[in-house]
Amino acid sequence: ADESAADYVAHLTRTVPDFPQPGVTFADLTPVFADPAGLRAIVKGLAEAVGAPATGEVDLVAGIDSRGFLLGSGVALMLGTGVLAVRKAGKLPPPVHSREYTLEYGNAALEIPATGIAFEGRRVLVIDDVLATGGTLCAAVDLLRSAGAEVVAAAVVVEIAQLRGRDLLGGVPLTALSLQ
Ligand code: PRP
Ligand code: MG
Repeated sequence: ADESAADYVAHLTRTVPDFPQPGVTFADLTPVFADPAGLRAIVKGLAEAVGAPATGEVDLVAGIDSRGFLLGSGVALMLGTGVLAVRKAGKLPPPVHSREYTLEYGNAALEIPATGIAFEGRRVLVIDDVLATGGTLCAAVDLLRSAGAEVVAAAVVVEIAQLRGRDLLGGVPLTALSLQ
């Protein structure tokens, strides 16, 4: 029988204590992504965060730099939408919308294009691999909203529930395939 996405995550995730700094436990999903059935199960699970495919509930999937990219494209193909890379600062040509955020380790900023994509009224599903403090996903949601998009849902593979990151999401429904 096929295993669930959560089973693949449980069996294949490499959990690394004190990386990238003391006190942070790093959930490395690399082996899940590299497993054919594991990748299929998580991409399918993330796509199902918004119900049946091709219902038109979502018309753009946004994947967060960098591990969200690996998943976002697969989810977009399943849903029949396009994909948007939400980039870390300095990667996109100007003009950009930019939003700073705080990570468990340091500060960063996310950016999306301020021209060339019509965000007004666009219904977006935001994808990332891990929700920890929620700073990253919250910045992506704020960024897309400030550009005029409607963020209809967010989905991650792993939620580190004790960090309460989901509380930052301002009412955006969050699906997590696995709780840690
Ligand atoms: C990790 C992870 C999430 C984020 C979660 O990304 O992939 O994007 O941290 O943390 P948060 O909920 O506390 O914000 P990281 O910034 O390490 O970069 P990467 O995806 O490029 O490896
Ligand atoms: Mg990341």
